[in-house]
Amino acid sequence: MNKRIVLHASEIATPTGTKARVGKEMSRIKTIKDGAIVIEDGMIVAVDTSDAIMSRFDLNQYTLTDASGKSVVPGFIDSHTHFIFGGFRPDEFLMRLSGKSYMEIMKAGGGIENTVQATRADTFESLYSSGRQRLNGMVRLGITTVEGKSGYGLDMETELRMLRVMKQLNADHPVDVVSTYLGAHAIPREFKTDHQAYIQFMMEKVIPKIAQEHLADFCDVFCEDGVFSINESRQLLNKAKKYGLLLKIHADEIESMGGAELAAEVGTVSADHLLEASEAGIRSLAEKGIVATLLPATAFCLNKPFAGARKMIDAGCAVALGSDFNPGSCFTYSVPLIFALAGIHMQMSSEETLTAFTLNGAAALKRSDTIGTIESGKRADLVLLSCPSYKYLIYHTAMNCVHTVIKNGQDAF
Ligand code: NIG
Ligand code: FE
Repeated sequence: MNKRIVLHASEIATPTGTKARVGKEMSRIKTIKDGAIVIEDGMIVAVDTSDAIMSRFDLNQYTLTDASGKSVVPGFIDSHTHFIFGGFRPDEFLMRLSGKSYMEIMKAGGGIENTVQATRADTFESLYSSGRQRLNGMVRLGITTVEGKSGYGLDMETELRMLRVMKQLNADHPVDVVSTYLGAHAIPREFKTDHQAYIQFMMEKVIPKIAQEHLADFCDVFCEDGVFSINESRQLLNKAKKYGLLLKIHADEIESMGGAELAAEVGTVSADHLLEASEAGIRSLAEKGIVATLLPATAFCLNKPFAGARKMIDAGCAVALGSDFNPGSCFTYSVPLIFALAGIHMQMSSEETLTAFTLNGAAALKRSDTIGTIESGKRADLVLLSCPSYKYLIYHTAMNCVHTVIKNGQDAF
């Protein structure tokens, strides 16, 4: 049995509990000075001061990790990415910098469509190998669980390939990969003149196949003006729910169109982006306990105003932070950048950002019963920071403070 004790951490900092923290509760962090964590078989079995742990456990039975001078926080959970894709789109990024909007580029046949062509042409092996490299990069930034979406194939074959790549990566790589079917990411070329036929195809052919083969945990929709309407999104999400998939939605990213309200109506686990969410939409997310997943690196890359994190937390929402890593609107999974943006530009406190990237990220994936905090009974997914306190995650601006990542009790790199 793998038995390990992390000893003498200058500080352990963690939210607590097995459910999303909402509103004011998001700032409730437990800290232990000179802390220790006992790990057995990949699980946390005790968390306390080093003195208390040394008096209760026989250290000779354990491998010891000296964490002096370091702080320990839960592994980061990036609950929204599109990390499997073929090709790159640097020219579009530069076009945006010279004034073209994301939607203008998309309507001119660039954007998602561009990546769809490249991904369809990519093999399983090649998608697997680029995906694996990206997971290697993520874990070095402290990510221990990541969600990944399909949505760059749109046809049956490529969507299934993307989901199978993620399933294989989940089996092979220390980072846990949670898969989401996002067939409703764009209307594929073949269906440009008949949206409804594409929706029927997803509902009658793809979703049943995915459910039958257990290839995804979630179904997501890009609900946006000019992409999938509220009615189309409702139809699709309700169908996915019938097949036992959990739901997510890209809501109110570019236009305010009632995406948050739809999330509340159909019962998604999270509503994501929300740059333009209405007051009523925010209230309904709070009432229904739907996690508001905010993706500040996307707003930053698109040069748009950040989502109203403060308003959402004050309205009693559970806010999670994620990257939205993708080859178009946000070609970064920089955890340090996201902490900095949330702290500096979204008026989130250090404590709120920590909760948002750990426990609430876990809740956005329906996994807060097993991950997201440092408490006995949870998986031993930990980040040792080369700084004495979690406060450096914002303060040491956009710098990677990660020293060691422990996933299921083992060093992850
Ligand atoms: O979350 N909004 C839709 N999808 C991505 C962008 C995907 C792309 O541009 O390739 C997003 O921003
Ligand atoms: Fe996204």
